Amino acid sequence: MTRHYLDHASTSPLRPEARRALVDALGAEGGDPGRLHAEGLEARVRLETAREQVAGLLGARPREVVLTSGATESITAACWGAAGRGDHQVLTAVEHSAVTAAAGRHGEVTVVGVDGLGRVDPDAVRAALRPDTSVVHVQWGNHEVGTTQPVAAVVEAVRDHPALVHVDAAQAVGHVPVAFRELGADLLSVSGHKWGAPAGTGVLLVRRGLRLDPLLVGGDQERARRAGLEPVAALAGVGAAAAALTGPALAAEEAEARRLTDRVLDGVVDLDGVRVHGDPVERLPHLVCLGVDDVEPQAVLLGLDRAGVACHSGSACSSESLEPSPTLAAMGVDALRSLRVSVGWSTTDADVDALLGALPEVLAGLRALRR
Ligand SMILES: Cc1ncc(COP(=O)(O)O)c(C=O)c1O
Repeated sequence: MTRHYLDHASTSPLRPEARRALVDALGAEGGDPGRLHAEGLEARVRLETAREQVAGLLGARPREVVLTSGATESITAACWGAAGRGDHQVLTAVEHSAVTAAAGRHGEVTVVGVDGLGRVDPDAVRAALRPDTSVVHVQWGNHEVGTTQPVAAVVEAVRDHPALVHVDAAQAVGHVPVAFRELGADLLSVSGHKWGAPAGTGVLLVRRGLRLDPLLVGGDQERARRAGLEPVAALAGVGAAAAALTGPALAAEEAEARRLTDRVLDGVVDLDGVRVHGDPVERLPHLVCLGVDDVEPQAVLLGLDRAGVACHSGSACSSESLEPSPTLAAMGVDALRSLRVSVGWSTTDADVDALLGALPEVLAGLRALRR
């Protein structure tokens, strides 16, 4: 059966450019990039090329790029590094669990609520600041509903306060333009695998001049900001993925993702008991969230999977019960029944056709069982 993968917001297949760079680097001698021999220098060139490519995509200086294992590590490092500045952190109610869990380890946390579309008010963020606030966390775009945050306005709202601003851009990078220097944030976290770079890669951007205590210590790698031998082949892959998206390619993919997700939204508008969550305008191009009345999301996901369509739901299934989605709960909508559809660089119209063909039947079948 042909498969139709519509779960790029979880992880996206490797881009061909990234695969080529990865395989090429895996075939090299593999020296330590911190050594002076030829093998080390070759690895160093690959690493610094990747850094420049990533900086090019993100509108950052190469020296602002710390290469990590993924957004979770970048976020944890941001929380850890900022913690020395004060005992209080501020975050929005729709942050990813990587942010809420890491921030919660460093003293008190104030959670700023969102409106029914999932947007935070920058004035409410400003009002949450205390003299001991070390960092404000705000995501660029939400992982469940796609709503984007007014990140530039949040940076502005915190400008007169010594607190740092950390932007979790794990869902945004590779899908929308991100210009770090222009944004003026202090820290920005990136995941590689969500836009076709290898899994196990990520980036923490650290604003020039900002010194942070490193999370991983014991070596001078990454200018002493992240100890441990660099996974050069995987990082060559993230560099190549970034280079492939720099320039007009990103705008083209963004437009195509929006066209495909608009097709999903148009295609469900007449379905009974299906609603759209999140901001219809201020949204990431590649993901949409549907509320599905009366049916459990697991059953919908399994029905779609049998029809060859891979999607995801924000409501996680623990051993015995359905866990409500924190994002949907913060928005004040049904947090138990949602379906997330996300597209990426390899998605075609046939994938959307398959979803729109299968969904009405899956929902009708499940609702018939309830009667
Ligand atoms: C908004 C957001 N932040 C952070 C993460 C964690 O990313 P990674 O898998 O690269 O650690 C995710 C992954 O789902 C995410 O969606």
